[in-house]
Amino acid sequence: MEDVVLGIDLGTSAIKIIAINEEGQVLAKSSVELELIQSQPGYNEQDPESWFLAVMKGIAALLLEENMQDKQITGVSFSGQMHGLVPLDANQKPLRNAILWNDTRTTEQCQMIRDKFGDTLLTNPILEGFTLPKLLWMQMYEPELWQALDVFVLPKDYVRYRLTGDISMEYSDAAGTLLLNPANKTWDKKIGEQLSLGDIYPKLVESHEFVGNFTEEIKQELGLDYDVAVFAGGADNACGALGAGVIKEEQTLCSIGTSGVILSCISDNKQNFGNNIHHFNHVLSNVTYAMGVTLSAGNSLNWLKQTFFDNENFDDVLKLAAQSNIGANGLLFTPYLQGERTPHGDAFIRGSYIGLHGKTNKSDIARATIEGITYSLYESYSYMKKNQNGNNQIISIGGGAKNSFWLQLQADVFNAEVIPLKYEEGPGMGAAMLAAYGVGWFDSMEACADTFIAYGEIYQPNQQNHKLYQQYFEVYQQIYQQTQNLTYQLLNIK
Ligand code: XUL
Repeated sequence: MEDVVLGIDLGTSAIKIIAINEEGQVLAKSSVELELIQSQPGYNEQDPESWFLAVMKGIAALLLEENMQDKQITGVSFSGQMHGLVPLDANQKPLRNAILWNDTRTTEQCQMIRDKFGDTLLTNPILEGFTLPKLLWMQMYEPELWQALDVFVLPKDYVRYRLTGDISMEYSDAAGTLLLNPANKTWDKKIGEQLSLGDIYPKLVESHEFVGNFTEEIKQELGLDYDVAVFAGGADNACGALGAGVIKEEQTLCSIGTSGVILSCISDNKQNFGNNIHHFNHVLSNVTYAMGVTLSAGNSLNWLKQTFFDNENFDDVLKLAAQSNIGANGLLFTPYLQGERTPHGDAFIRGSYIGLHGKTNKSDIARATIEGITYSLYESYSYMKKNQNGNNQIISIGGGAKNSFWLQLQADVFNAEVIPLKYEEGPGMGAAMLAAYGVGWFDSMEACADTFIAYGEIYQPNQQNHKLYQQYFEVYQQIYQQTQNLTYQLLNIK
């Protein structure tokens, strides 16, 4: 029997599971879709039990794969969508649906926090997506449920609890609650006291820490007659970074999925970057990272395709974009389809195309959209780099790394070497690496990364192109201020 570990990635649209052996070969995969509950505009919820059921279905499907027949699952770990509030009662039952990271109902609570503590809290911006405002929303609008609240956890913590019976939260995800001090890795209970939260904190563990085995019921349900060790896991962005080998100071990740992220490992764990740059703990014990988030990155492209490019696939849209010129013949796009996190922290701003003219064609619109998404990420990158001595190398993952035109565009806009992975498995790879390290296959995460991760060709920046992009970027940066008032006026017309 060969041992394998599982990386379970709890995303927002699906649960994805991979099984990996000690050589880093992915032997099997499974995926189960998840349902989003959107009862009102801005509300995004999921049923925690549906995550657990999807994970059980996914593991069962994986076990049936031909490649898995002579394999034994020795360890399991998780990557999880961040920030989602899962409130549990004294019997560890969810009191309501989870309120997710992309739910924007908490503007009022964010203002309350700012009024009390100022514009940042524990080196982080105060944003609708984070967990503390969600707790305050529940305290304010669901007092009866609030009374019954015993402990709060995050999405993957709930799944892990259902598999092991252990309630805990690890640092990389706890950092996104606005209640963890990233420098000393403790709950800042003084903040909670000032907001009358009560003692609702779960115990904190390291990402690679063993938290328990599959319970007997779970083993029975899955037909396993051996123990499976479970390790805490990490936040999806941290796991994405680990799975791309971004684990050391100064290493930077660009991830373009539904949302887009620029993530850079930093050594100064007390740093406050401002500009709505987040500052969270990595899945490695002594590393923190700065991160900028574009809420609608791939989502903007998806919207464009669905709305205007019915007959084309994503490759066609990118081919069309490549046919236009740098600057899309004078057209700029801001990707604020669902508001923006970094640098604006504004849930109400909306996107725009600026510079349409009589000769604007489909290629220009496709190119402007891709450039706008990339400018938004470059904006985060530029705020982080101002504070660091630049190592100008970026590991690129996600949709933006699947296409050589977009990879070169990233290199030219960022003025950095851009490197994709040879084989990409997303945050599930980081989760599997935590399990691989947890079960003792490797002495360090670095050693695991050396075995599990391979890089593709390097895309070098073209200086001339960068100078041209830079001029467009400087105009792009002004669009937010110039359109803010207009978009608010539009939202207020009833
Ligand atoms: C990060 C964030 C998102 C979610 C998506 O702050 O909110 O990237 O983690 O799953």
